Amino acid sequence: MKIILGVGGGIAAYKSAELARLLMQQGHQVTAVMTDAAQRFVTPVTFAALTGRKVLTDLFAIESAIDHIGTAQENDLLVVAPATADLLARLAHGLAGDFLSTLYLAFTGPVLLAPSMNVNMWQHAATRANVEILERRGHRVIEPGVGYLACGMTGAGRMAEPEEIAAAVDREARAGRDLEGETVLITAGPTEEPLDPVRYISNRSSGKMGYALAEAAAARGAHVVLISGPVHLSPPHGVEVIQVRTAAEMRTRVFENLEPAGIVIKAAAVADFHLSHVPDQKRKKTAARLSLELDPTPDILAEVGRQKGDRLLVGFAAETENLRQEARRKLESKNCDMVVGNLVGGTETGFESDENEVVLVLSTGDTVEIARASKREIADRIFDEILKLRLSLHSAHEA
Ligand code: PMT
Repeated sequence: MKIILGVGGGIAAYKSAELARLLMQQGHQVTAVMTDAAQRFVTPVTFAALTGRKVLTDLFAIESAIDHIGTAQENDLLVVAPATADLLARLAHGLAGDFLSTLYLAFTGPVLLAPSMNVNMWQHAATRANVEILERRGHRVIEPGVGYLACGMTGAGRMAEPEEIAAAVDREARAGRDLEGETVLITAGPTEEPLDPVRYISNRSSGKMGYALAEAAAARGAHVVLISGPVHLSPPHGVEVIQVRTAAEMRTRVFENLEPAGIVIKAAAVADFHLSHVPDQKRKKTAARLSLELDPTPDILAEVGRQKGDRLLVGFAAETENLRQEARRKLESKNCDMVVGNLVGGTETGFESDENEVVLVLSTGDTVEIARASKREIADRIFDEILKLRLSLHSAHEA
């Protein structure tokens, strides 16, 4: 694969030299593009020696006049490491003042970003917003590690190790567009069940897990239909989003869009109960106790399971205990091929967090554990396992 290694101006630029070496070792052709600031930390000669290729630095050099377009067209993948706060901001907002940022705008392939900065800069609202824009655009952000930082502080912001970045690049290179031609139907977020015109029952789901799955599937070439409960996330790039509010609306939309879907993933936290007859007017507050009789909502996953056909059906299990047992029970009772179990109730993973830790319970009897990682990373691992599972179910069927 032909890879552009964009090097930003941070102390972690020295680690990118090792990344260049690892990518070369994996058999890729690597072209380094360095910002002016990057060249203050490491000289282009280092990257030229490691990659055996000219290092691109100057947008205004005569021979570079159209090189940013040509380089963008000739290469298959762009990895930016270190991606500094300034570089993330420029890429997020399309500022194209140097070779790397101009090339980025002209590049249409997959983009991986390995941020590196001081912990406060990483947590700043401006950086969070820029990262969100870039992720929504379908780019992979390889989360920085937690530890001692060059600035003397300790916290999140240290660029991921070159081995981790090289592994993510390799996965991207291997995964490529392995969902091309596939329609993937995903549900995400909570549902809201009204109690009157102003009140409702809902839950803590932010939609992050389901949106990460949608992004991953789109990046791998799928046509993605995302049926989303009310969340505060921007629609992922290239994904058809259908907004719903209640479990009943979600059910209607799922069945309307089920037919072309070869893979169905139910990551939404659908309310289990609702009020069947919602009053037209706001309930008045009185001193008396209020009791409401709630009815069960339709179990959409179980209903899809009953008419699954050839589809691969993936449910989620949000549990606070007995994760594996409950995930397997849901797999069997809802006729799924895979159930993704995650513990909820804490703050680090599960609901609302940017990270998750899951166990996949498969209809083959196997289980696969995926250690804590960003929801986007987990999403890709889930698709890797979905594709493997489909192959093994297919071979078992043929035998
Ligand atoms: O959105 P985030 O903040 O990122 O959080 C992610 C998550 C924790 C919501 C997600 O990872 C998750 O676990 N989603 C499923 C939540 C849930 O409703 O789990 P459950 O165990 O109650 O339901 C089991 C399965 O049945 C789920 O696939 C659910 O979508 C489905 N279901 C449930 C009830 C219902 N009436 N209809 C359904 O289809």
